[in-house]
Amino acid sequence: MPIDADIIKSLHKYEIRILHALERMMKRYRWVPEDDLRAAVKLSPPELKYRLGNLIHRDLVRSDSVPYKGYALVFAGYDALALSDLAGKKTISALGCMVGVGKESEIYEALGFGIVILKLHKVGQRSFQTLKTNREYMPGEGHCPWIFASAKSAEREYEALKALNGKVSVPVPIDINRHVIVMSQVPGANLIRCVLEDPDTIYRQILDEVQKAYAAGFIHGDLSEYNIMTDGETVWLIDWPQWIPPTHQNADAVLRHDLENVITYFAKKYQTNYDLEEAVAFVTKP
Ligand SMILES: Nc1ncnc2c1ncn2[C@@H]1O[C@H](COP(=O)(O)OP(=O)(O)OP(=O)(O)O)[C@@H](O)[C@H]1O
Ligand SMILES: [Mg+2]
Repeated sequence: MPIDADIIKSLHKYEIRILHALERMMKRYRWVPEDDLRAAVKLSPPELKYRLGNLIHRDLVRSDSVPYKGYALVFAGYDALALSDLAGKKTISALGCMVGVGKESEIYEALGFGIVILKLHKVGQRSFQTLKTNREYMPGEGHCPWIFASAKSAEREYEALKALNGKVSVPVPIDINRHVIVMSQVPGANLIRCVLEDPDTIYRQILDEVQKAYAAGFIHGDLSEYNIMTDGETVWLIDWPQWIPPTHQNADAVLRHDLENVITYFAKKYQTNYDLEEAVAFVTKP
């Protein structure tokens, strides 16, 4: 479900306080007990009940009463915390439309200093949150894998963008909060959606970027026609959370897989005949 910016803007400070408390306490509890929550937020029982009712009604928080009355943050609540912090810091001033939804992410346009892209990492959204029975997959109380996995994934991607910025053609990293990355908008389209006039030049450019990233200590790890963008002249490599360093034990296999994806795509679409060994040698040349 797309984020409703009006809901986030309309949150009362007590509601934000409750979301913060749940976020903190979910390090210990999958379902935060009502008594502990009340003690943490220091609100009267009727006020807490009213505020929780609002949050549950807006699908930012869930409650369960078995085996005890407890509350949990869900992704929309986590989104609300990240986006209200980014708005508070003036990194973004308005949320635009959703421009993509992937297996484990949602992409939005937003207004910052000009148009920017927000990538909300959502690792485990489907497996952990869709069904109530998924509680069984939680490894005991006190674990909240999706919060940490999503923030970790965003952190990894941001780390790559920061290190590669200025060296490799990637989106410019602007800010990060929890599981949300703010980055510049790339003025191109996904390679899969383009019909290239000059595939050779674009292929060479992709290899150049992969080589520069490798020299800077980064192998993409998920390179394909979906994660390369181009305007027909310039290319950008996007979607970096799966990067590994060239010193990683699987580096050779992962790099080959990345390059093979690109070579196979060009061969199918443009009947080219690029050589994998040549590409590997080019990228890893000292
Ligand atoms: N900085 C950007 N500028 C413009 N468009 C972007 C940018 N980042 C992402 N997108 C668009 O959003 C899509 C999804 O982004 P990304 O590949 O980073 O996420 P993902 O989790 O891999 O999603 P998917 O599973 O669909 O590949 C991209 O294919 C691209 O069309
Ligand atoms: Mg992608």
